[in-house]
This record gives sequence, C-alpha cells and structure tokens, in this order.
Amino acid sequence: MLFAVVATLLFHEILSWPMLIVCLAIGSIVGTFASRLIAMTSMPEMVAIFNGLGGGASLLVGWAALFYSLELTVAVTVILSVLIGGVTFSGSVIAWGKLGEWLPSKSIIFLGQRWINGLLLISVLGCTVCFILDPSSQSIYLYIVIGLALTIGILAVLPIGGADMPVVISLLNSYSGIAACAAGFAINNVVLIVAGSLVGAAGFILTSIMCKAMNRSLVSVLFSGFGASKAAQKIDGEARAISVEDVYYVLEGASTVVIVPGYGMAVAQAQHVVRELGALLEDNGTEVSYAIHPVAGRMPGHMNVLLAEANVSYEQLIEMDVINPRMAAVDVAVVIGANDVVNPSARDDSDSPIYGMPIINVDEARIVLVLKRSLASGFAGVDNPLFFAPNTRMLFGDAKASISAVVNQFKT
Ligand code: TAP
Repeated sequence: MLFAVVATLLFHEILSWPMLIVCLAIGSIVGTFASRLIAMTSMPEMVAIFNGLGGGASLLVGWAALFYSLELTVAVTVILSVLIGGVTFSGSVIAWGKLGEWLPSKSIIFLGQRWINGLLLISVLGCTVCFILDPSSQSIYLYIVIGLALTIGILAVLPIGGADMPVVISLLNSYSGIAACAAGFAINNVVLIVAGSLVGAAGFILTSIMCKAMNRSLVSVLFSGFGASKAAQKIDGEARAISVEDVYYVLEGASTVVIVPGYGMAVAQAQHVVRELGALLEDNGTEVSYAIHPVAGRMPGHMNVLLAEANVSYEQLIEMDVINPRMAAVDVAVVIGANDVVNPSARDDSDSPIYGMPIINVDEARIVLVLKRSLASGFAGVDNPLFFAPNTRMLFGDAKASISAVVNQFKT
C-alpha cells in the first residue's frame, strides 16, 4: 500500500517530495505510537477504529473524485463510496466505543427504531438518485447523503451488542473494503479496486464464519438486537472456592485435563504459565489438551495466537465441535478467564440472552476448575450458572498469579 500511495502521489504530481515526506513521517509516528501503546487486549478496538478510518478515507477519496470528473459512472461510484464509507466510519466508532466499554456493550433498542431506520433508508435512496441526476462536488444531496450515511452507521450498530459484536466487527471490515473498492472505481485506481475487493470478500467470509460460530443468522444479528427482549436470569446458590494446594491435588491425580482459555487469560497474559502448567501435567503422565471456542477472547483466533506465542503445540488445540463429544470423559476442565463461552445457560435456558450460542460443555467434565477474579459476568453481561454447579470449584484471583502458584506447587 505504501508503494502504491507513494507512486500515485509522485507520478501524478499530486504532492511534492517535501510534503510527501512530512505526511509519511506524521503517519509513521502515529502508527508506531499506536502499535506500541495499545495493549494486546485492546486490539479489537484498534481493528474497529482501523475499519472506521478506512471507511472515512474512502468517503473523502470519493468526494475528491468529483473535483475531477462529473461523468455518470464517477457519480455512481462516488455516491457508493461516500454512502458505504460513511456508514463504516460512524458504525466503527460506535463499535469501538462498545468494545472499549465507554458505551454500553449491550444492545440498545428504542421505540420506533425500525421506522426511523426505514425512513432513513428511503431518504438516502431518494437523495442518492437526485445526486446522480445532477452530480456536483457541492451538491446539497451529497451533503445530505453524507449526513444520512453517518446517522445510519450509528443506528445500525447501536442495537448490536453483547456476544454479537464479533460479527459486526468483521462486517464493518467487509464494508470498509467495499467502500475502498467503490472509491477505486471512482478514481480509476486498479490497486484500490483489487485491495478493496480482497478486504470486502475476506471480511464477508469471516462474517459468515462468525455467524456460524454464534449459531446466528446475519439478519438476526443485524435486526433482532442481541438478547434485547430477554431478562438476565438470577442465579441462586453458592459458589465453592478452592485453594491453590487443593487445585494441585486435583490436577496431580487427573489422567485427562482440558484447558479452556478465554479473554481473562489474555488480560492476565497468562499464556506462558499456562503452557508451563500443561508441560508439568504431561510430565506427570496426564493427557492435556486446549479447547478453543471460535469467539473466545476479543478477536478471531485470539486464543490460538496467544497459545502459539507460548509455543503450545498446534496438535493440542482442539476445536469446540471436536472436544464437546469427549467432554464427559474428561477428569478436569480448567477454565482460565473464560466465561460466556462456557456458560451452560446458552445451551439449557431458552430465556437466556445468549440462548443458542454454542459453548464448550465444560460442565460435563468430572471436575471443573474456574480461574477468575470474581463471580462477575463476561462480555455479554450474563450470569453464569457454571460457577454454582456442584462439580465446579472457583480459584479466585488473577489467572497468571493463580497458575504460577499452582506451578510452584508442582515444582516443590
Ligand atoms: P468473557 O465472557 O468476556 O469473560 C472473560 C472473563 O475473564 C471475565 O468474566 C473476567 O472475570 C475474567 N478475567 C478478566 N481479567 C482476568 C484476569 N486478570 N485473571 C483472570 N480472569 C480474568 O470471555 P470469553 O469467555 O472469552 O468470551 C468472549 C466474549 O467476547 C463472547 O461474549 C464473545 O462474543 C465476545 N467477543 C468476542 C470477540 C471475538 S472475535 N473473539 C470479539 C468481540 C466480542 P473476572 O472479572 O471475575 O476476573
């Protein structure tokens, strides 16, 4: 992309050398600081804002194309890049806020929302046609389409929340590619068309994989609001805590252990001690595997990346569909900072907001050890009956500190 941008700017004499170097330096400094300062756990927010910037850039590129040509094909592709780019930009900003939890992460639904959305869609279609009939860089219809696109982006993402967020992030990623592709047609730039198509297609494939992982159709993700009409179930009962020493005795006597990592392992950066524990268990003659839920953590492949970083062998990572039929024969399931992806109410309680989302059936194991700091809910904000099950023991504390303490028990 750097070569493409520099070549275009230079050979078309759009920018002078000094200006180009200043712009490159500013971009590089911002990019370097962003990559250094952003915590690994904030990567999804970063991806969301990247998508948004991609959409915003396409909007501006499309708009700028109008200063060079007002042909019909240019007008059509410009309005597409402005429309899709605008929706992507404002939708991504809302997704960024939801993932960063400075906006409520649950779905936000208000009265008459569908009517308002319908009205906005009709208005945007009308203004798009009016713009195409009389295109100009100062057309009032262009400004109205920009305003409506930004509003539609906000209203489209607000009702999406909780466990549906992975789907909307990949969908916005796809939109940013489609907007770039349209901008590429507007300025007749092959690199932009090819790169935009790749991102658009890859994002769409990822979206359908995410929908499958969540057992949701794209239509229900976009229009039904995640668990909006359902009240979170109140769970009565007492969770049983366990000490580090007792965890050691349980693990020491187990012949099969399945480790289920989740977002908390990423927060605690516990992947290296988790691998160390796995190795100690294997030295002890225990069969160890790692069960990977497709949306565990906050980005696709999050757990795979962390465990690979800690040199866990790829053969030991078992996908949810493969591990679930074996779960009843497992001695101990060790849940490390995972919550939603092991919540049995998604399977058993039709009133639960996450009902229907596939989970790893850790509750079927003989003993379940859950390592987290409290009984707090996970990303979807839904209480977890697993913590109160008779075969569950809670080891409270930061995952890295807890596992390090268990590892020390094995070593002494
Ligand atoms: P969550 O359900 O979010 O639960 C993570 C748990 O980790 C929390 O309940 C928290 O409990 C615990 N935790 C946090 N810091 C910890 C620490 N330092 N040590 C130990 N535990 C810690 O995670 P999950 O089970 O991985 O599920 C992922 C959720 O995120 C799903 O709802 C999914 O839809 C959503 N999501 C996924 C993605 C992708 S693509 N993967 C993207 C966006 C959203 P305590 O506070 O009690 O410690």
